Amino acid sequence: MTATASTALQDDLVSRTRDVLDHLGLALSGDGDLVSRSPISGTEVLRVPATQPGGAATAITEAHEAWSTWRTTPAPVRGLVVKRLGELIDEHAEDLAWLVTLEAGKIGSEALGEVREMIDICDLAVGMSRQLYGRTMPSERLGHRLQEVWHPLGVVGIISAFNFPVAVWSWNTAVALVCGDTVVWKPSELTPLCAAACAHLLDRALGELGHDRRVHRLVQGDRSNGEVLAADERVALLSATGSTRMGAEVGPVVAGRFGRCLLELGGNNAAIVTEHANLDIAVPAVVFGAAGTAGQRCTTTRRLLVHSAIADEVVARIATAYDSLQVGNPAEAGVLVGPLVHERAAAAMDAALEQARGEGGEVITGGEPVEVPGCGGVWRRPALVRMPAQTPIVTTETFAPILYVISYDTLDEALELHNAVPQGLSGGIFTDDVAEAERYLATADTGIANVNAGTSGAEIGGAFGGEKHTGGGRESGSDAWKAYMRRSTNTINFSGTTALAQGVSFG
Ligand code: UN1
Repeated sequence: MTATASTALQDDLVSRTRDVLDHLGLALSGDGDLVSRSPISGTEVLRVPATQPGGAATAITEAHEAWSTWRTTPAPVRGLVVKRLGELIDEHAEDLAWLVTLEAGKIGSEALGEVREMIDICDLAVGMSRQLYGRTMPSERLGHRLQEVWHPLGVVGIISAFNFPVAVWSWNTAVALVCGDTVVWKPSELTPLCAAACAHLLDRALGELGHDRRVHRLVQGDRSNGEVLAADERVALLSATGSTRMGAEVGPVVAGRFGRCLLELGGNNAAIVTEHANLDIAVPAVVFGAAGTAGQRCTTTRRLLVHSAIADEVVARIATAYDSLQVGNPAEAGVLVGPLVHERAAAAMDAALEQARGEGGEVITGGEPVEVPGCGGVWRRPALVRMPAQTPIVTTETFAPILYVISYDTLDEALELHNAVPQGLSGGIFTDDVAEAERYLATADTGIANVNAGTSGAEIGGAFGGEKHTGGGRESGSDAWKAYMRRSTNTINFSGTTALAQGVSFG
């Protein structure tokens, strides 16, 4: 039962989107096989041309051809393209943010934050383009030198999800480009305008600087395109962000041809709140982590492990905050919780809450549908659910705003619960006790582990990704670039004679 979108809202979405596309200089007739549907209205806004059958393979061929020149273009020169891309993104930040709000349903501040991540990674990658360092090491042989040199890999395939429709592309693309790789991108079918806008800006940057535009190819359409990327030997690295189920499908296909995979899959992130926590820090961080982005981040806080001595107080404070969250049209000021992406997501949330009740859970607040007048999308109030234990539903990732609360008595117990889920993306502890913080950092099995900071909102400077069913990949900052290059170990003999390693003599 949802409200239908009013004509006024529908007209507003369409006209605002047309203005943004005009401002971007993106000429889209509005026809095509691919529907851009907004979760705000639940209706079609525009149509985008879909890649035709065979188009994904053609895109790979083109990107592969472009690679022969791109790979030998000096890395700092490649960096200039990323620099220009970052400038264009900055110039069009509001345009991109609008498309993110339109297609992913994010509130304005979060949509702009996502665009900020794009600019940040471009800045980082430009610097990186002069720092693709290899090592040199002492040789055991007289008159010899040993070195490692990093080389471009080839074509990088990117599969990205609806919930970060522009940032995840930029993390992968900015780094891949400076590393000398070319890119074929298969975005989520739910966010085709976001994808078209990103591809358009990069196309412009490449064109302005006189490079082959086939360095980046966009493939819009259904999962069959992703299957082509997974199977094609010319795709040297497939970087895939999405569900664990998707990763389990593409991973073996890429491994079967000895390609490389970078998987960034599901999370089931816990925040531990100890009896030594400053609740003025913990409560807002948990509320944003769990209810922000309507619970649709892979880094969303899904489990709250709270010391039994303070559990009632913490639950009461979070419940009060939840009850004050404004749920509604994310394009309106003051709204903090936008829609779920589609009916299926809402149905999954409802089913999870049903299962949680069956497993002894008590819904403290939220979970109910919210009718947003004039909007045809699906909304749910973020749910806070007290669980007697870490039951099966708690160990499952449901991509919706449900926060399960479990109380514990000892830190050992909390740490065990923290790690006792299949996923291993992000986690955090709230405490002012340094020993508790250090024990947590030494034990957490997640790729991201924070102290007095929430599970979501990682900065691009660090490597991003997680362990176990999260897939083990790392993208974005630090030395994640190494996944986008291949390493060559070189021995250079300037001794004027033949010398074998390990003291071997032969004849
Ligand atoms: C995702 O949800 O796929 O750490 C990525 C964060 C963001 C990225 C989330 N920087 O929440």
